[in-house]
Amino acid sequence: MSDRGHIPVLLLEVLEHLDIAREGLYIDGTIGLGGHSLEILKANPRASLVGLDVDELALDKVKETLVPFADRVRLFQADFRCLPDLDIDFPSVRGLLLDLGLSSFQLDSPERGFSFNQNGPLDMRMDRRTKTTAFKIIDTYSEPRLAQLFQKYGELRQAKRLAHEIVARRKVNKFETTVALRLVIEQVCHWIPQKGKIHPAAKVFQALRIEINQELQGLGEFLETMVERLPSGARLVVISFHSLEDRIVKRTFARLSKGDASAPLVRLLTRKPVTPGENETAANPRSKPAKLRAAEKL
Ligand SMILES: C[S@@+](CC[C@H](N)C(=O)[O-])C[C@H]1O[C@@H](n2cnc3c(N)ncnc32)[C@H](O)[C@@H]1O
Repeated sequence: MSDRGHIPVLLLEVLEHLDIAREGLYIDGTIGLGGHSLEILKANPRASLVGLDVDELALDKVKETLVPFADRVRLFQADFRCLPDLDIDFPSVRGLLLDLGLSSFQLDSPERGFSFNQNGPLDMRMDRRTKTTAFKIIDTYSEPRLAQLFQKYGELRQAKRLAHEIVARRKVNKFETTVALRLVIEQVCHWIPQKGKIHPAAKVFQALRIEINQELQGLGEFLETMVERLPSGARLVVISFHSLEDRIVKRTFARLSKGDASAPLVRLLTRKPVTPGENETAANPRSKPAKLRAAEKL
């Protein structure tokens, strides 16, 4: 396991859109290795920070990283969707950041099972207290349910064929590892590596991850609740890494900025999503799909 080479995505854009020079509380709902949080604390001695993550291993790491700022930091092992229930002084919040998805630390740990390029158990839980693992889904979901999952969350063209093949083969040999699953995907999808083409296993692994970690559930509702709780002038900044997530953020911010049923509640700070430039994607190819959207509470 290594966190070497951790590079926070869209760092300058995050700091700018959060407007971190103001005194008060900043919330990092997905603190990971603390790349963004560290910069907020370094840049502004009048900033305090609440950090959340579901992954206890990430929290162990970030605790070490943020030791020099310990008197200004509170960390919770919690889902950001539980934020409204935590004991936090919401009127003093100046900014909320969600940098969704996985950290490089999780992706680069084969034993977590997130990467199809490294062999490991079929796990993929961000929160190891979660009961459902990728193994359980692949081993127990019915063929139609698997097909629907690959289609809906992975947008995989060969979803039905893959589900059929998995169900047929698992009767003989259970799929225990990431590589065993990758191999059947490559066979069913007739995968030949080509520049610019997404590996079909990336789509299937994405679908499994979303299902296991319930990544899309309640995201829009969470943003709406936070907008109600935060004071005027507070900034919300969200980075998403796939279109399903980005669509939810975009629609929620749009709805809140129009104020369909009431007066508008936010001002959009980004009409179009902010994306990494060429320099950033060259230095950190994983940043490529990132899309940042931001809004300010009115
Ligand atoms: C992309 S990383 C964040 C990286 C971080 N900004 C940094 O610079 O180090 C996303 C993190 O969010 C966590 N996470 C994902 N979904 C979460 C949720 N619903 N609640 C809390 N943490 C979550 C993951 O465990 C992961 O550590």
